[in-house]
Amino acid sequence: MVNITIDGRKISVSEDLTILEAARENGIQIPTLCYNEALKPYGACRICLVELVSENGSKLVPSCTFPVSEGIVVRTDSEEVIKTRKMVLELLLADCPGSKVIKELAEEYGVKKSRFEEEDNNCILCGLCVRACDEIVGARAIHFVDRGYKMEVKPPFLTATVNCIKCGTCTTVCPTGAIKLDELSGISVMHQWSDKFSERRCNVCGSFHFSPGF
Ligand code: FES
Repeated sequence: MVNITIDGRKISVSEDLTILEAARENGIQIPTLCYNEALKPYGACRICLVELVSENGSKLVPSCTFPVSEGIVVRTDSEEVIKTRKMVLELLLADCPGSKVIKELAEEYGVKKSRFEEEDNNCILCGLCVRACDEIVGARAIHFVDRGYKMEVKPPFLTATVNCIKCGTCTTVCPTGAIKLDELSGISVMHQWSDKFSERRCNVCGSFHFSPGF
């Protein structure tokens, strides 16, 4: 166990936790977008930044990847943290102006609109879909391709892949709805990775399965 301070509260937590896990374990809320407790932390979205205070000054660190250690002092709601989260939200709003999750989070922080040019692709490159496909499903059907502002999530060779087992996990974990499961004439249709799969209920077990085509 280690002793840490979060927002003035002195707490004792297991030494193998991250700041985010320690905070949540003690009822202290920190917003997240690219974090999922079933997956390895990734630190992509930066919305979970907190301030690590020390005698030599303070710095912002992503709470989802930063491990706790004896004596650290953390602020989750300082002026610097709020200012930075607002900036992150402006950038995310520009990327995903149609995302309900981003809009709600922005509203919570009083961010009404973004100063940056809108992209409207809805993907925030949080990597949840890529990591879930790899770490949970084991299919590795999708990856990040390209770099910088051109980076996006695609299957290998940018075409439909046989590695995709149509489980829909990527759709489920996506926080912004960038990977869609659309309703069409009463049948759910997943437009996924340049291919189309219709979802039908099994007459025997009652669960849904995906099959190619409409
Ligand atoms: S939740 Fe920590 S960086 Fe995204």
